[in-house]
Amino acid sequence: MKLRAAALASLILASLFVTTSVQAADPIVIAHRGASGYLPEHTLGGYELAIKLGADYIEPDLQLSKDGVLVAMHDDTLQRTTNVSSLYAARNGGYKVSDFTLAEIKTLTVKPLGTASTSYPGFSPVNSDYKIPTFQEVIDLVKTQSASTGRQIGIYPEAKQANPVMENKILATLLLNDYGQSTDKVFIQSFSDATVKSLDAKQAALGLDMQLVQLGVAVTGGDGVARMGVIGSGLSLLSLDQVASFADGIGVLINNGSYAVTKSFIDQAHAAGLLVHGWTFAQSDAGLAAAEYQRYLDMGMDGVFTNYTDLAVSAVQQFTSPVPEPATAALMMVGLLGLGLRARRSRQA
Ligand code: G3P
Ligand code: CA
Repeated sequence: MKLRAAALASLILASLFVTTSVQAADPIVIAHRGASGYLPEHTLGGYELAIKLGADYIEPDLQLSKDGVLVAMHDDTLQRTTNVSSLYAARNGGYKVSDFTLAEIKTLTVKPLGTASTSYPGFSPVNSDYKIPTFQEVIDLVKTQSASTGRQIGIYPEAKQANPVMENKILATLLLNDYGQSTDKVFIQSFSDATVKSLDAKQAALGLDMQLVQLGVAVTGGDGVARMGVIGSGLSLLSLDQVASFADGIGVLINNGSYAVTKSFIDQAHAAGLLVHGWTFAQSDAGLAAAEYQRYLDMGMDGVFTNYTDLAVSAVQQFTSPVPEPATAALMMVGLLGLGLRARRSRQA
């Protein structure tokens, strides 16, 4: 009887670990623009380094070329990150990605910016020429790296244009590569709520259910109620329940006094069923970075966009404890209850 009671108790206790809220397992490390603190941003070499440093997800921002190909690029112009102005004359007064064909874009080289360089100690990338990759090439890298590392690497594309054509191409590319369900390691993100809502509707129509993330800022009113600030021509506010009706998570700006991410904000987002990922962890000093990660991880943040994957991985290992799987929890409880029964028997003897 005692053993049956122990097993029953363990099952009841184990069920406590099966939560209906969205509290994630371990926080995820998202390689923001690749290993952008170390190598040229949005390059295959940079993404590969981030994976080698332990990133769970790599983040390609996406733009469309003149001939309609999705390429990994943050800006809508080519000038800041590449040598375009030394190879081409300006078009329509500038260097918009959408004014250049993929063939032309492929002639460009991405420059290291900020703390980045063209090499990283002890690392020889498969692709060391730092060209602008297509979205498909980024997915191909994810597949080969998942196979070679034995870890399923996730992908976290951002629709940088609020554009139905871009939405369709993102969904089609993912679908062609066997992504489609909520269990797949993919998040699609956008600052535009129209885009995220549209992606949600299109997925529903197609029988797809990939996770969607609304980007913006954390807003907490004087009433203490958390809301999502969506950045457009101005700032519009959405309730967290509204966001949860079309998205699975939110990506919020960190380190901003006007839009502070607090524990209460994260708790309210979790209660609404939303994951919370923070951008951008850009601190290169290991000590200062550790303190920054700890602050947000202690509040319950579920993921961090980082320019320095190694620092984020180290912080997650240091400042979070693995969430026990339900099965593991059940076994732990059986063990604990068994020990308790033995102790009681020896006291009675
Ligand atoms: O997508 C989250 C974060 O990357 C937003 O910043 O770098 O795209 O401007 P960014
Ligand atoms: Ca981004």
